[in-house]
Amino acid sequence: MTQSVATIAESYRARTPRSREMYEGGTSYTAGPAKGAYYYRPYPLAMERGEGRYLWDVDGNRYLDCANHHTAQVLGHNHPRVMEAVLAQMSRGLAVGAPMGPEADIAEEMCRRVDSVDRIRFVNSGTEATLHAIRLARGFSGKPKIAKFEGGYHGSHDPVEVSVAPPLAKAGPANAPNSVPGAGGSSPSVADEVVVLPYNDEEAVERLIVENRDDLACVIFDPKCGILNIRPEFARAVRRITRENGVLLIFDEIVAFRSSPGGLQAVFGIDPDLTCFGKIVGGGFPVGAFGGRADMMDLLDNSKPPSGFSQSGTFSSHPLAMTAGLAMLQELTPQACDHLNRLGDRLTGGLNEMFARKGIAAQCVNTGSVFSIYFSDRELRNYRDLAAVDGSLVSPTFLALLEEGYFLGHTLGMCCLSLPMTAEDVDGLIEATGRAVARAQAE
Ligand SMILES: Cc1ncc(COP(=O)(O)O)c(C=O)c1O
Repeated sequence: MTQSVATIAESYRARTPRSREMYEGGTSYTAGPAKGAYYYRPYPLAMERGEGRYLWDVDGNRYLDCANHHTAQVLGHNHPRVMEAVLAQMSRGLAVGAPMGPEADIAEEMCRRVDSVDRIRFVNSGTEATLHAIRLARGFSGKPKIAKFEGGYHGSHDPVEVSVAPPLAKAGPANAPNSVPGAGGSSPSVADEVVVLPYNDEEAVERLIVENRDDLACVIFDPKCGILNIRPEFARAVRRITRENGVLLIFDEIVAFRSSPGGLQAVFGIDPDLTCFGKIVGGGFPVGAFGGRADMMDLLDNSKPPSGFSQSGTFSSHPLAMTAGLAMLQELTPQACDHLNRLGDRLTGGLNEMFARKGIAAQCVNTGSVFSIYFSDRELRNYRDLAAVDGSLVSPTFLALLEEGYFLGHTLGMCCLSLPMTAEDVDGLIEATGRAVARAQAE
C-alpha cells in the first residue's frame, strides 16, 4: 500500500469505527463479507438507513447514493408509492403459495412496455433469469452451444461465467477470444459450450457466429450498460447477424432496462427473441424475469400438454417483489426516464470536461443514468481495453469521495443516479470528483 492510500484510508477509519466493528464482528460466520460485492478495502461501510437519494452509515455520516443497490433503486430509497403498496400487500400475508394478483399486473405491464415481450415469467434473481432464458433457447433450437461477449456479466451460473474477466495471458487473440472458465468449480466441459465474442467488432462477431451457427443456440448480449460505449449500430449488427444465421438473440436488460419505458432495446430499435430483466423490476426486492416470443415462452405453459420444458420456484413471482416492482415501474414514466438520462449525460459531460480542464487522464462513460469512471484517456472499445486500464487510483478516489459525501460503486464502475437527484447533485459530484482525484494523486 502506498503512503497516499494509507492516508486516505486512515481518515476513512477515523470516520467509520462502527462499520469496522460490524465488519470484523460478522465475518467469521459469513466467509468474509456477507456477499462478494459488499467487500472493499479496508472494510465496507455498514449502513443504518436509506431515504430518497441519501444513505446514512452506522456512524451517522450521510452520502448521496450513486450506487443505488447495484442500480436496482432507480427511485432512490423508500419511495412513498412503493412503500405504501408493499405495506398494503404485506398486510395480506407475506407468501401464500398461490397467486394473489400482483404477478399478473406486473406481467401485463411488462408486456405492454416492451414490444418484443409477448409473455414473461418472474424468478428471484438476474442469474436465474439468464439461466432459464438460455435453457429455453437451447431447448427450442435443439442446439448445444451459446455465445457471449468477452467481459460480459450475466450472473453466476457456469456458462455465463466464462470469460467475464479472463487473465489476458489466457484470453487468446482479441478478434477470436479463447473461452476461459470463470469461477472455481465450474463444470470442466463448460469452456467447450461457449463461444466468446469481442464487443464492438462486427467483423469478428459475424465470422465467429457463421463458423459456429450449426451448434449455436443463442447469443446473450448485454450492451455493457454504462460500462463501455457500445455503438447502437454494433448492437443492431448483432441482431442482424444472429437473425441471418438462425441464432436466437437474448438481450440482457438487467441493468439497461432503466434507459426508457421499453428498455434499451426500444432506444436502439432492436427486437430480441428473449430478454432478461432484474434489479428495478423488483422495486428493491430480489427479482429476475425473462420474457419474449410467444412461440418460445409458451413451451413453459404447463396447463398445456407436456412440452418437456418447465420453470417454477418456491419464491418465483413473490407477491411483495411483484407489488414493489409494479409500483416502481409505474413511477418510471417517459418523463422520469428523460430526467434520469439527462442527468446522466450532464454528469458525464461535466466530468469529462473537468478531467480535460485539469489534465487528469480519466474519462466517464455512460448509458443514460448508469456510469463508470476510468483512469484512462484512451478510447475503451472492449474488455481488452478495460483490462489494460491502470486501477491504482480507484480505491483512494472512491474513499476520498466517501469523505466528500458520495457513495459510488467501489470499483467506480456501474454507478448510477436515482430519480430524486437534481442538476445540483450532479454538479456537486463533478466538483467532488475533481477534489477526490487530486487528493488521490497527490498523496
Ligand atoms: C447485466 C447483468 N446481468 C445479470 C446480472 C445478475 O443479476 P443478479 O445479481 O440479480 O443475479 C447482473 C448483476 O449485476 C448484471 O449486471
